[in-house]
Amino acid sequence: MMTTVNVRSTPFELTVRKDTRFDFSGLEDVLHTDGNLYISHFFNSLSLVTPVTEGVLIRAIREAQPLLPGSGLEADAAAFIGQEAIHSREHRALNRRLAELGFDTSPVVDEVETEIRQLEETMTLQERLALVVAGEHAIYALARALLASNYGNSEQNSVVKALFVWHALEEMEHQSVCDDIYRQLFGWGMKHRIIYLRMYLVAGKLLSMMLTRLMRALRAKSRGPEPGEFKAFLSWLLHDPGVGVITLRELLVFFSPGFSHWSRREQDQELIQRNLEVVLKSVA
Ligand SMILES: [Fe+2]
Ligand SMILES: [Fe+2]
Repeated sequence: MMTTVNVRSTPFELTVRKDTRFDFSGLEDVLHTDGNLYISHFFNSLSLVTPVTEGVLIRAIREAQPLLPGSGLEADAAAFIGQEAIHSREHRALNRRLAELGFDTSPVVDEVETEIRQLEETMTLQERLALVVAGEHAIYALARALLASNYGNSEQNSVVKALFVWHALEEMEHQSVCDDIYRQLFGWGMKHRIIYLRMYLVAGKLLSMMLTRLMRALRAKSRGPEPGEFKAFLSWLLHDPGVGVITLRELLVFFSPGFSHWSRREQDQELIQRNLEVVLKSVA
């Protein structure tokens, strides 16, 4: 039901950077991050899954769009769809390069896509929007972990790094759009927190299922692990740069009673701005 309260919380206008393009033709090795099998395939799995997950987000927000006129969220919804569509376009470019290098995982991606679409058909718009809010927060958690940690010091192919940094900063920019849309259409309160929690568990299960399957498919085509390589991956997650630990902390914050998306507005905007400059320099 439409309310008259303005729920928009994004502190600036969103920009769709349609001209952002990455050239992966110089990428010669799928093990592009610290030469590590697991860290590299973690990023490759994220890239492969991006068009699938972003399809879910885009379809839900598109369905919500006709319900938004007069809410003040119309431009955010359009910008959100625009940003996600460009993310998918650029990740597809990396995914095509991975396939050229012998890492075609399209049968697994197609299988996952079919399962996700079947699940969507069983859900109401409200449930799908709650799933999107949960999924977007999980993506924000990882994005913030990448930008706020020393991940930038990892030895990673510069174009792959630029892609992930750019994607992460745009995820931080549109962090609250889906939540605003949900609240506008359905309201807020304990009942909704329970729906969010339920969908958070669904999103977590789906994301881990997709990433596990893709990691497995990529590893099956790769060389075997070297001694200490898995330990180095765990250290990357838990210690330096600690991407896994920071992500987990951000995931849990979502359910703290005082949570609001832009409670660290200055920090978040500083991370966005600083990393935007890095990306623009690297794609110039
Ligand atoms: Fe995205
Ligand atoms: Fe997003």
